[in-house]
Amino acid sequence: MKIALFDTHPFEREHFEAANCEFAHDISYLEPRLTHLTARLASGYPVVCCFANDNLDPETLKVLKQEGVQLIALRSAGFNHVDLKVASDLGLVVVRVPAYSPHAVAEHATALVLSLNRRIHRAHQRVREGNFSLAGLVGFDLHGKTVGVIGTGRIGSVFAKIMLGFGCRVIAYDLLPDKSLAKEVEYVSLDSLYRQADIVSLHVPLKAQTRHVIDQSALAKMKKGVMLINTGRGALIDTGALIGALKSGQVGFAGLDVYEEEEGVFFEDLSNEVLQDDQLARLLTFPNVLVTAHQGFLTEEALANIARTTLQNISDYENKKPLLNEVRDGMFKTTSSPHTN
Ligand code: NAI
Repeated sequence: MKIALFDTHPFEREHFEAANCEFAHDISYLEPRLTHLTARLASGYPVVCCFANDNLDPETLKVLKQEGVQLIALRSAGFNHVDLKVASDLGLVVVRVPAYSPHAVAEHATALVLSLNRRIHRAHQRVREGNFSLAGLVGFDLHGKTVGVIGTGRIGSVFAKIMLGFGCRVIAYDLLPDKSLAKEVEYVSLDSLYRQADIVSLHVPLKAQTRHVIDQSALAKMKKGVMLINTGRGALIDTGALIGALKSGQVGFAGLDVYEEEEGVFFEDLSNEVLQDDQLARLLTFPNVLVTAHQGFLTEEALANIARTTLQNISDYENKKPLLNEVRDGMFKTTSSPHTN
């Protein structure tokens, strides 16, 4: 099928080229992000392929429909950037890549924990400038600490097991506890998790119930000096509240791979421009904050899986096979089946 692949990044193109040897789709690699302003580029393409920071709001979807698009193939697990109701009303089919490497994201969360704790980001800068002093670099043993995992689906459960490997005590909160993980991890209420955890790591999808789940009141319930890790979605955290908690010392460390307002900033080289986002600029001033630009998924294995599953989804649509990875409005709204990203 003819595919307009929006927001193409050099690191993923080679994986799509390799995977497409098997599928032989006709792919046009476009650099712009998909927004209502760029949607007309999809003219003549029955399929658009989108990434996590493309914006599939009602206006964009209407233009896509006018231009003859039938299928939206997300090359992400999350679909909070798509208005599924409007897509469904317009008869646009949406598919995604539900799982490509939970290890990639869980291991990145671990990298944030270790880097923040042992101040690797600061030590690296210092040593490069010839400063070999150890002042201010004291960390703590992970062994014996309590790690609170919010969301123990594919990624959260891998992260929990990694933390168990460090000798941590792991407590967790999930709407749908994982029975096998419950043999090693204690499921507790959110409030209890906040009270007990030395490290809190977020692995729930972004949806109405989880937006700003970490707000001022949640932060106030946590242990003073807690380490907060977010590789889920930026809007799980109220950034203003986090900045306040960092200033007061209530939060001792923050490791953020995602940010509420990352769209249009993350994935871009803005090094020659003045950063316009004051909250992000403030976050970047804290010595105990480590921000990465949504790179949790960025491993060779994950990229290969994303490319293959995306092209398989498109072939399944073309060949009228069952769409195993279709996402539809309302299908994740019950509390008993919350696997939404
Ligand atoms: P998953 O669907 O396997 O697991 C999500 C878990 O959250 C499930 O166990 C579910 O029961 C639980 N959950 C859902 N709503 C909840 C609620 N309101 N309260 C408590 N628990 C709730 O998803 P997966 O694959 O583990 O992904 C988790 C997150 O990671 C998603 O937000 C996704 O967008 C993000 N992600 C981030 C990436 C990155 O590069 N940083 C890459 C891929 C995913």
